[in-house]
Amino acid sequence: MPPIDPTDIDAAIAALAQGRPVILPTETVYGLAANAADPSAVAAVFEAKGRPRFNPLIAHVADAEMGRAVGQLDARAERLAQAFWPGPLTLVLPVGDPALVCDLARAGLDTVAVRSPGHPLALEILGRFGGPVVAPSANRSGRPSPTTFQDATDETGEFAAAGIDGGPCAVGVESTVVALLDGPPRLLRPGAVTREALEAVLGPLAAADAHAHRSPGRLLRHYAPNAPVRLRATEPRAGEAYLAFGPALEAPGVFQLSASKDLREAAAKLFALLRAADATAPSAIAVAPIPDEGLGEAINDRLRRAAGHVG
Ligand code: TXA
Ligand code: MG
Repeated sequence: MPPIDPTDIDAAIAALAQGRPVILPTETVYGLAANAADPSAVAAVFEAKGRPRFNPLIAHVADAEMGRAVGQLDARAERLAQAFWPGPLTLVLPVGDPALVCDLARAGLDTVAVRSPGHPLALEILGRFGGPVVAPSANRSGRPSPTTFQDATDETGEFAAAGIDGGPCAVGVESTVVALLDGPPRLLRPGAVTREALEAVLGPLAAADAHAHRSPGRLLRHYAPNAPVRLRATEPRAGEAYLAFGPALEAPGVFQLSASKDLREAAAKLFALLRAADATAPSAIAVAPIPDEGLGEAINDRLRRAAGHVG
């Protein structure tokens, strides 16, 4: 394939129209995008990621109007879309027009995950392409999500016909996923739209556990570097790399998530520092305790999965 020009938006749109995968910047993490309506384009994305076919993809839309064609938004969904789109919130809804997001993209479910990403280049591409685009994180399945264009091309670039460099991702962890189906709203994946922010719009959220089967991707070990991950470590042991949170000695193998204990900064750096720590081939990656409030819930969720504590 010819080299990718990371500024060529026309080439990205043309590749989507031809049914070929494209590296797409978003505010959360980089995605590997394809035309949601085209089963062979979607199959190419599953193939590139090595992703199990039972794990459905998110349909990315330019705006709420495109969202209403893809899924059925009830009053709760409309309030959330109004409050948080474009932004890091994915809604799982009863499917709208099933041809817009093909069966393979939905893993055969009668529900669909929809989000409008808060990144100007993603919105421009979606608006000009004119239809929904699936975009799972651009990592190979099970690996940490890419938060820079370089990390995305290292993971799945060989499968992409085009790609856009939108700079480092501002959020750094994947979107919050909320199911709005029969019954109360359920938080399926914590993210940058925090539980507290959702509850301010919706009222109290139910726990996701009873409906865990509704988000098949949650059953997998995920976000994992090569080295084992040791959580809630107040200091590194010999041979370990260390992800610090708060003041720490500067030393080789010590990587700072946030010296000032800022959860936004830590989320934005999380996956890049897991990769950097992994590159030093440590015996393990030890990670400092992170408070479980606000964005900390999403960070701890990713860290538990990286450590192999599934569920
Ligand atoms: O921030 C993000 O959401 C990124 C960027 C690129 O937009 N994308 C992303 O996609 O994280 P992915 O495919 O890595 O994660 C999608 C998650 C998975 O856990 C999947 O199981 C869940 O959404 N999901 C998708 N469709 C679903 C559905 N119909 N019901 C329940 N869960 C669903
Ligand atoms: Mg992913």
